[in-house]
Amino acid sequence: MPLPEGFLNELRERADIVDLFSTYAAVKKRGRTYVCCCPFHSEKTPSCTIYPDNQSFYCFGCGAGGSTITFVQRMENLSFMDAVRTLAQRVGMQMPLQDSQEARQANVRRRCYEINREAANFYYLNLLQGTDKRGLQYFRQRRLSPATIKAYGLGYAPDDWNALRDHLKQKGYSEQELVTAGVCRSSAKGNVFDQFRGRVMFPIVDLQGSVIGFGGRVLDDSKPKYLNTNETPVFDKGSNLFSLHFAKNASTNTLILAEGYMDVIALYQAGFPNAVATLGTAITSAQARKLSQYAREIVIAYDSDTAGQTATQRALNRFSEVGLPARILKMEGAKDPDEYIRTFGADSFRRLVEQAGDAINFQLDKCKDGLDLSTEQGKDELLRRSVAVLAGIENSLQREVYTSRTAREMDVRVEVLRQTVDAAVLRQQRAAKKIQFHAIESRSLQRDELNPLSQKFPRESRAEQMILAYLLRNPEDHEMLWESLSPSDFVTDLHRRIYLAVCEQCREHRQFSLPLLEETFTVEEMGRISGIAARSQELPVSRDALEECIRVLKAAHSRVLPGETMTDDDLLQVVANQRKKQ
Ligand code: GTP
Ligand code: MN
Repeated sequence: MPLPEGFLNELRERADIVDLFSTYAAVKKRGRTYVCCCPFHSEKTPSCTIYPDNQSFYCFGCGAGGSTITFVQRMENLSFMDAVRTLAQRVGMQMPLQDSQEARQANVRRRCYEINREAANFYYLNLLQGTDKRGLQYFRQRRLSPATIKAYGLGYAPDDWNALRDHLKQKGYSEQELVTAGVCRSSAKGNVFDQFRGRVMFPIVDLQGSVIGFGGRVLDDSKPKYLNTNETPVFDKGSNLFSLHFAKNASTNTLILAEGYMDVIALYQAGFPNAVATLGTAITSAQARKLSQYAREIVIAYDSDTAGQTATQRALNRFSEVGLPARILKMEGAKDPDEYIRTFGADSFRRLVEQAGDAINFQLDKCKDGLDLSTEQGKDELLRRSVAVLAGIENSLQREVYTSRTAREMDVRVEVLRQTVDAAVLRQQRAAKKIQFHAIESRSLQRDELNPLSQKFPRESRAEQMILAYLLRNPEDHEMLWESLSPSDFVTDLHRRIYLAVCEQCREHRQFSLPLLEETFTVEEMGRISGIAARSQELPVSRDALEECIRVLKAAHSRVLPGETMTDDDLLQVVANQRKKQ
């Protein structure tokens, strides 16, 4: 069931593309357009342009482009319908009634939420009231107070294969539903049994306060230490964070990112409700982006071991991609925040948070790893590594500050170090330009998957692009153009479809806007269309050039067999359109 056009139009009017971009990237005004570093590929100089006039965007670096809906589709990796839903929610519009398949999916999700809530309740009551007290003993031994246990709804899964299954079946949930929700599993023979047995349970709660999954920890040293819910219709490890529903309400702009559930809970109990953790995986871009909506800065408090430090570097990269400043907490004498607080107390930890250094300090510090600084060789190597870090600092004032400090620390003359760093910056910039240039070049040489014939007919394809560019900029001329150029004159398929669609829109709506095409074309095709539109903004096509392009296409057809380029569908469509005109 297609969405009503009125709904889509209103959505497009309400969801402003510049606003939308601003939540994902730092957007700068440049004349009548806006620019930013492209959120779809990694770059340091902005090549993504936003056109408020027609509510579209195009990245000259990677070729991504489209409208608000395409943007959300790409950014969140969603289908057209899901992107529409996300946008509607963002601007506070009610979705029109769903079709039956959607209603079914919504129903499955609702049952998953219910089952998760029932299961959490079951584990919680079993922890407090069950005869097996091992779970409660475990939490006591880890010094969790009853208040903390209650706040997180911690629980204990009975050491039994069917306890939860039988309990929930009695409440009217089918075995299939229990498996779908991830609280049970099904054996090869089809027997359904409890996923979590004899483990202390950490419910994972989303921002709406619904339980969406669990982490379950063994009580001893057996493996695996933690078991997490597998992906379900309501549980996605890569986009949710443990305890974010508490942290987002903490009255601070700083969020603390720890590695483990137990760290976050210990922090909460010690008076840091602003701590979160990922769900047993390395932090993803989606999670970093989500955090950037609730925090001005992040303090990374990962474990002090090597694995934790490597993970810190990775997390730094994710945060830098989304422009969220991060500082790194340095812990000595304890392996993680939980242990640190138990040993040194909450006040000491608060000082560590305050003293946490920025990413550059962390990287400069790491340069010393594995070097013997009492030797000349070690010092040389440290200098070499430090120069690479310093040259990577984008802000030149900041670069200068760190360069002079490093020079002082290493006892070299600041002028010399500055010169070396500047040379390295130049080298890096040149290398980056080269990479970008090669990327653009190789893209233009690649087989054109979207429009295969354009490889075979480059001249005609270029002419077609210019004609489309003209049309997109001067939609009022569509009738004039239609008179002199029929879709069958087009040589390549995609361009012909664009031409047809645009002319049709102009006829039907007496106006044209790019977003109207996004139901007809894929995200990739929309990128191509936005590219043509973007170039026409930068470099308008004159009437003379247009005439020349039309001649190129007409001439091509005396060479190319007509049947070769026009499909039956196209023919029917042309005929239908001409009828409409009469
Ligand atoms: P404690 O050992 O009880 O202090 O737990 P912790 O939360 O400090 O865990 P740790 O630092 O060992 O690991 C950090 C996080 O990684 C945990 O909270 C889990 O999310 C995840 N994790 C740890 N071990 C496993 C495992 O065996 N399997 C899976 N899937 N995840 C794990
Ligand atoms: Mn721990």
